[in-house]
Amino acid sequence: MDSREIWEPDRRTVLKAGAAVAAAITVSERTEASAATQETEPAPAAASAMDINLHVNGVAHRLTVEPRVTLLDALRERLALTGTKKGCDRGECGACTVLVDGRRIKSCMTLAVMQRNASITTIEGLGQDDELHPLQAAFIRHDAFQCGACTPGQIMSGVACIKEGHARSADEIREWMSGNLCRCSCYASIVDAVQDAAREMGR
Ligand code: FES
Ligand code: FES
Repeated sequence: MDSREIWEPDRRTVLKAGAAVAAAITVSERTEASAATQETEPAPAAASAMDINLHVNGVAHRLTVEPRVTLLDALRERLALTGTKKGCDRGECGACTVLVDGRRIKSCMTLAVMQRNASITTIEGLGQDDELHPLQAAFIRHDAFQCGACTPGQIMSGVACIKEGHARSADEIREWMSGNLCRCSCYASIVDAVQDAAREMGR
């Protein structure tokens, strides 16, 4: 697989990056505040909560979060968007896949502060009750789930897989969807659904 297409950092990388981003944001915001007010205040502790904007499914949310909060936890626990599932919580299963600026990403492996101002799409923002996304409809047609725990992540990943042009054959779909695991082993039906939706979408 071309590792340039899907960024899957290890947990240490995410935590280090998050700390760096939090520090940079803190310095930047304090510099702006200081310039505006000319006040001298002690630097906040590294773990202090931060105000961020999260743009999810076309809606802007103002949140106060600690820098260590993952995007997954912010979505589920702060915004009540529980369609995004927590499986392993360490980047191995793909249940938490969402789109960030159109790219699929495992939301347990990125921090909310790192995605402030990005455009985030979750399974709740993909279709409407009366008009499903073609891949959602294909999952139903092909009966591509059993317990459903992996399904939102499979669908979000499949949408990106199709958009990336990596759904031209069953082998290609299997390769580019390999980061999404299914404990119920619905893989054959999932591949069929992605292939079917790709055809319908002209990809
Ligand atoms: Fe994120 Fe498993 S919950 S990859
Ligand atoms: Fe049960 Fe995939 S449908 S884990």
